[in-house]
Amino acid sequence: MTQIKEPNQRSISDIVTAKTTVEGDGFTVHRPFPNYDVRDFDPFLLLDEMGPIILEKGEAKGASAHPHRGFETVTYVVDGSFEHRDSQGHSGNLDSGDVQWMTAGCGIVHSEMPEKEFAQKGGRLHGFQLWVNLPKKDKMMNPRYQEIPSKKIPIAQSNDGKVRVKVIAGQSMGKKAVIDTKTPIMYLHFFLQPGAQITQEIPNNFNAFAYIAQGQGLFGAEQKLAKKEQAVFFKNDGNKIFFSNPSNATESLELLLLGGTPIGEPVKRSGPFVMNTEEELEQAIKDFQSGAMGKIEN
Ligand code: CO
Repeated sequence: MTQIKEPNQRSISDIVTAKTTVEGDGFTVHRPFPNYDVRDFDPFLLLDEMGPIILEKGEAKGASAHPHRGFETVTYVVDGSFEHRDSQGHSGNLDSGDVQWMTAGCGIVHSEMPEKEFAQKGGRLHGFQLWVNLPKKDKMMNPRYQEIPSKKIPIAQSNDGKVRVKVIAGQSMGKKAVIDTKTPIMYLHFFLQPGAQITQEIPNNFNAFAYIAQGQGLFGAEQKLAKKEQAVFFKNDGNKIFFSNPSNATESLELLLLGGTPIGEPVKRSGPFVMNTEEELEQAIKDFQSGAMGKIEN
């Protein structure tokens, strides 16, 4: 059967399987990019999925003090509990469902550690960290935080209850996010029961991809199959993104749909620093080493 592309429905440019790597103080992540196949996906620089895993007592690990400059880190704890501290004297907890949108700007040193009781007792861990690039004009801005507790993240549901979405950034199914982003970003967490399908509207100029956290589904105008731990990158050939969980599926389809306006500037990156030129990268390393980004006071 030949599929006829519906008007304005985006087709797929690539499906990539996440690679497993070790981060921070030694925890495993699934990383669809960056890697040799996809270096970045303007304006996104990295996506890591932590877990899902059931941790034993004392097994939880985090990322002790490390710097960032020139971009934003978005931490979404689906299950688990973390505490963070930073060089500006800011600290707090992130519990199940909470989101922290941290604009590192000119530089911050922070730690992201499992919360003590969660570390002692163990339990289910699942989370995501997304890196969003900043345009040149905002790379050296003062750092800022947006911390959104789970109960403040808007949730929309279809009339038949088969599609549910948590609206972290952008809008979906009539709900608008509470987070303010420096450049236009869409960050949606979808849950589709077997037999559910959705067409999400997206601005024409957004780059967009989906990352599948659970189950499998059919994506894009071609209705291509993709599954857990795969990322589906869409072409910019429409303003609608289709996906479905087939009615014969045995589990729900859970995915992140991410989109954003491409920044279109040179990207020079070295570990936790992402700038526009080599000179700016060297300066970032110098500023960190000299202590200009501060340190975490206890
Ligand atoms: Co960090």
